[in-house]
Amino acid sequence: MLNESIRFLDDRLYVDNVELGALGDQFGTPLYVYSLRRIAANYRAIAAAFAPLGAEIHFSAKSNGNLAVLETLVKEGAGIDAVSAGEAYRALRAGCAPAKIVFAGVGKTFAELQWAVEHGLGWFNVENELELEYLNRIASQTGTRIRAALRLNPDVTANTHPYIATGHGAAKFGLTADVVDAVLARRSSYPHVDITGLHLHIGSQLGDTQATGKAVDTAVAIAKQHDGITTLNVGGGLPLAYDPHSQLPSPHEFMDVLAQRAAGFQLLLEPGRSISGDAGVLLTTVLYVKHQGGQRIVIADGSMTELLRPALYGAKHAIVPVAARGESISPAQIVGPVCESSDVLGRDVPLPALAPGDLLAVLDAGAYGMVMASNYNARVRPAEIVIETDGSTVRVARRRETWDDLLLCEV
Ligand code: LLP
Repeated sequence: MLNESIRFLDDRLYVDNVELGALGDQFGTPLYVYSLRRIAANYRAIAAAFAPLGAEIHFSAKSNGNLAVLETLVKEGAGIDAVSAGEAYRALRAGCAPAKIVFAGVGKTFAELQWAVEHGLGWFNVENELELEYLNRIASQTGTRIRAALRLNPDVTANTHPYIATGHGAAKFGLTADVVDAVLARRSSYPHVDITGLHLHIGSQLGDTQATGKAVDTAVAIAKQHDGITTLNVGGGLPLAYDPHSQLPSPHEFMDVLAQRAAGFQLLLEPGRSISGDAGVLLTTVLYVKHQGGQRIVIADGSMTELLRPALYGAKHAIVPVAARGESISPAQIVGPVCESSDVLGRDVPLPALAPGDLLAVLDAGAYGMVMASNYNARVRPAEIVIETDGSTVRVARRRETWDDLLLCEV
């Protein structure tokens, strides 16, 4: 969705004070462009909404792990939610204090856990009993204490896409309530681990607050039965309006749900998409236009290898020309060059007449865009450009890959 940073001025699309068309010409396409000002503003808005609860915010780096993005948020005071040692490594490289990194993930390896303990990461969100044993062993060997939260699978179904719902009983995530209860009852078996929190994340792009309320109730009920559970990490999931007409709960509404239920607990939050999503666009150039099967098919140089969400989830991203025109609008299918029928960036997109060389911007591509990019079809991953928080300075935060990069790891 267009916003204060990504908007039309005199019929041209801008990211802050920088015209997107000029960036496409200068750096080539496909190209990711992020507004660091918007990233910071989104973080501040969420931090302010949850400030009455004293909540600590950890940005979910899985949504956008670019160092420039992480550095911006770390400077703003955010911690980082890392879902692999690789993400935690990125967070450290971005200057995040180890204590402000939460380490989550359903399948952390022993080596990752060892590395994370050695580097003093602040929280371990544990999803397996064996993982607790590993942590206890590593802590005793290294003479450290570890702070852990058990990830509860609260068995609630979130109102979201099935691929990104994580809190229902059949999901692989977390531990069911009976197991959490049992593990807490025998906490003394893990003397080197301080289990002082419960973690939950019921899904991404949450459509209402009800499921969150239910999940938090379950967590609070368990926490209250065991001494010393002082922290509730309620995960991420604050939704982003990809469609301007969608009715989605605001951060304040989620805050109200937590305020009523989780009073007295230290709260942690792990928003990703709501901070990074609308701060990024994917720029792509029209290569060819053809009319086939009753459709206008626009073949662009951007594809599912840059932005997988439409192909994987049927996600809808607004697509707009970087130079708005008054011409008549008709539906177009925007597709990429990849050899897959699912390589469609947008179906039935209302667009004016388009010709080869025209630039299009896929909006809301700042979350789960570049992080999910691949080299399929031996396509190089695109560059990432950031507009600094001053609104005007343009910086290449990551260069475009080259064909030689594609061969780099082959020995
Ligand atoms: N915390 C945990 C434990 C998570 O699993 C996730 C997302 C988050 C926080 C951040 O959620 P957010 O605030 O961004 O909704 N690739 C999918 C989204 C997968 C989300 C996975 N977990 C997509 O493009 O929609």
